[in-house]
Amino acid sequence: MLENLPDLSGRSAVISGAGRGLGAALAIRFADMGIRPILCGRGEAALLSVRAAISERTGLDAPVILLDLSDPASIEQAAGQIESLAIPVDLLVNNGAMWLDASETPASAAQVLATVNAAITGTFLLTDRLLPLLGRSKAPDVVTIGSISGLPNAPLHSAAVPFYAAKRGQTAIAEGLRQRLRGSGIRSMIVHPPYLDDALPTDESWDAAATRTKGERATTRDVVEAVLFAITRPRHISLDIILDADEGGLFG
Ligand SMILES: NC(=O)c1ccc[n+]([C@@H]2O[C@H](COP(=O)([O-])OP(=O)(O)OC[C@H]3O[C@@H](n4cnc5c(N)ncnc54)[C@H](OP(=O)(O)O)[C@@H]3O)[C@@H](O)[C@H]2O)c1
Repeated sequence: MLENLPDLSGRSAVISGAGRGLGAALAIRFADMGIRPILCGRGEAALLSVRAAISERTGLDAPVILLDLSDPASIEQAAGQIESLAIPVDLLVNNGAMWLDASETPASAAQVLATVNAAITGTFLLTDRLLPLLGRSKAPDVVTIGSISGLPNAPLHSAAVPFYAAKRGQTAIAEGLRQRLRGSGIRSMIVHPPYLDDALPTDESWDAAATRTKGERATTRDVVEAVLFAITRPRHISLDIILDADEGGLFG
């Protein structure tokens, strides 16, 4: 699948939340295609392990940058470190966001702040801070990982209301940026996944994900491929992509 993609080698991509799950899958698959990932996230050990996997598979050196999206000071520091790498940044994937489960026990104020700040404040501040750097690329893109929770009238499923609201806010950021960036070379796009099972290019879950049949859940591989599809469209086109599945999707 997606074997006839344009050559993406030589590009670089900042990925938030790159230490596990979808962020790690994006980073490893990008590296397989010659895109140099800049691995951002909270857990240094997890980021270093993704970096080691990438180096072993591709020989690419993926820089590791500590980033807590709920903390503006951390965002400022991370953005400065990304700038000081002195490499062009072609793509920002706003992947990091804190999940919050619906629960009988009310969410604490700290949980609500962390959820909303990581998804909304963090996504906005990091993107805004990196726009000048992205603007130097010949093909700059911002891809935000939303959620079906971020769509109007979406079912809550097992999400807590603050997560649902935070994802709606992230959608507004992606759409607002698209308007603000009109006339610039930078595209702002958003991909909305349903509930996901993890698939990683480093293990058999990746190949197995490609043979799922209707009725099964979506996987992180499906999202990685949607992002690759979006960024390889001709540059006059910006895509918003909703992935749906019978299990864990909008209606299931
Ligand atoms: N998994 C799903 O079913 C699903 C469905 C729809 C949308 N999504 C979206 O897909 C994206 C990736 O999620 P996932 O599937 O990998 O599972 P996840 O469990 O939702 O992972 C969240 C990711 O965001 C990072 N993160 C959380 N708070 C952060 C903060 N304050 N600063 C920096 N990074 C932070 C986490 O890093 P740590 O390791 O530091 O916690 C982790 O990498 C998220 O935007 C999520 O909302 C996921």
